[in-house]
Amino acid sequence: MLIPEMASTQLAEEYREIKRPLLMNAFPDENNGIERANLILVTSSVPGEGKTFTAMNLALSIAMERDKWVLLIDADVAKPSIGSLLGRPGDLGLTDLLKDKGIGFSDVAFKTDVPNLTVLPAGRQDRHSTELLASDAMKRFVNELSNRYSDRVVIFDSPPLLAATQGAVLASLVGQVVLVVEADSTPQYIVQEAIAKLSSCDVIGCVLNKTNQGFAFNYYNYFYGYGYGNYGHGQKAQV
Ligand SMILES: Nc1ncnc2c1ncn2[C@@H]1O[C@H](COP(=O)(O)OP(=O)(O)OP(=O)(O)O)[C@@H](O)[C@H]1O
Ligand SMILES: [Mg+2]
Repeated sequence: MLIPEMASTQLAEEYREIKRPLLMNAFPDENNGIERANLILVTSSVPGEGKTFTAMNLALSIAMERDKWVLLIDADVAKPSIGSLLGRPGDLGLTDLLKDKGIGFSDVAFKTDVPNLTVLPAGRQDRHSTELLASDAMKRFVNELSNRYSDRVVIFDSPPLLAATQGAVLASLVGQVVLVVEADSTPQYIVQEAIAKLSSCDVIGCVLNKTNQGFAFNYYNYFYGYGYGNYGHGQKAQV
């Protein structure tokens, strides 16, 4: 994960590239017509492509900018992982907030030691927990987030789009979607099927993940053609 000490690494640089267009859409100089652009869903076509890795690193990268506040929500309630990744498995979270009127946001969200990063874990699971994501309570909660926290970036980790319907429902509630695609693994027709489920979204960005032919490789080809020899040779991007 992208910790503050890694600010000058290639991973940090790649996340700068990834977050820049998202932040420009979320906080535009003039009205860009994108509703709820500060709410960003990180999803993928199938399991294991790197949604949680991307959501966490994107949240960390944005939170490390001094004037940006980030709320990271684990909305993959059937397969939660952010709570455990941060050493807090089993905490109450999103599902409890949606189910129980007696539980408020501040009861279940926690601050991290990255000053501008707050986390809302997935919460306790039961057999109805995935249905909660498509509930009116979830719609109300997301609306409240976009109104009350319009100066914050809210990042949702989500279920994969083709494994369950909840991913597509969540996508309809946010302003921007980041579709994580695992390089050399997910077939093109699967990615196209996933994109077809995002028709309600204004902005869909794509992260090609787990590739070992990153930006450096392209620079290498470019410079090689112009006689710059070995520039960039041997570098491998992770994202
Ligand atoms: N760019 C990357 N570089 C190195 N490791 C990665 C990268 N992306 C993902 N991984 C690793 O791949 C595994 C799967 O990633 P992750 O858990 O983020 O996927 P996911 O899409 O959230 O999966 P699930 O659908 O099960 O929730 C993890 O072990 C993660 O650390
Ligand atoms: Mg995950």
